[in-house]
Amino acid sequence: MNPTNENIVWHDYLVTRQFREKVNGHKGAVLWFTGLSGSGKSTLAGATEQALAAAGVKTYLLDGDNVRHGLCHDLGFSDGDRQENIRRIGEVAKLMVDAGLIVATAFISPYREDREKVRNLFEVDQFFELYVATSVEVCEQRDPKGLYKQAREGKIKQFTGIDSPYQEPLQPELRIDGQQTISDSVAQIIALLANKGVINV
Ligand code: ADX
Repeated sequence: MNPTNENIVWHDYLVTRQFREKVNGHKGAVLWFTGLSGSGKSTLAGATEQALAAAGVKTYLLDGDNVRHGLCHDLGFSDGDRQENIRRIGEVAKLMVDAGLIVATAFISPYREDREKVRNLFEVDQFFELYVATSVEVCEQRDPKGLYKQAREGKIKQFTGIDSPYQEPLQPELRIDGQQTISDSVAQIIALLANKGVINV
């Protein structure tokens, strides 16, 4: 434990998550999108958030590229930095769930252990691991940011799927076929949330 933590005492808040969820008319939860760069995580997370927000759900979106401009601007792509990136996002997502939101996150989050640590911050039916299962071949063919090309040329090191690993989820709440339409994937995710009692539709 961090030595400074010994003098810090946890305070319970007067406005609880349960109260916020009652006011909002839905539960708080995390939609944790994981997959390779270019797999479609950001697009899907954005489209899912938009559909939920349009239905009156209180949402927020945390996207890898954006968060790395601010909260995680000091981190690179070594194993340790990726671990710290995911740890921070997990803690921020936890605060957002406590605030009663449905938060969608779009990070490669390549390591199972890091994703499991985040999962363990949450209760049952609060954390949904959504694996955007687009193959590295398809991602590389799409190469929306030209990063795979640079990785192949050795200009970017430790690029996920090329010279840095991606560990597929073993038991995700949902495995999304990266080739199906966005609206089909969004519908699947909304159905999952309704089925688990997170939202009422
Ligand atoms: S994670 O591994 O720590 O979860 P994160 O999702 O935040 O990664 O950031 C991934 C994005 O950073 C990619 O979509 C890509 O645009 C960019 N990026 C730059 N360098 C790398 C790299 N070496 N490996 C993977 N993504 C990289």
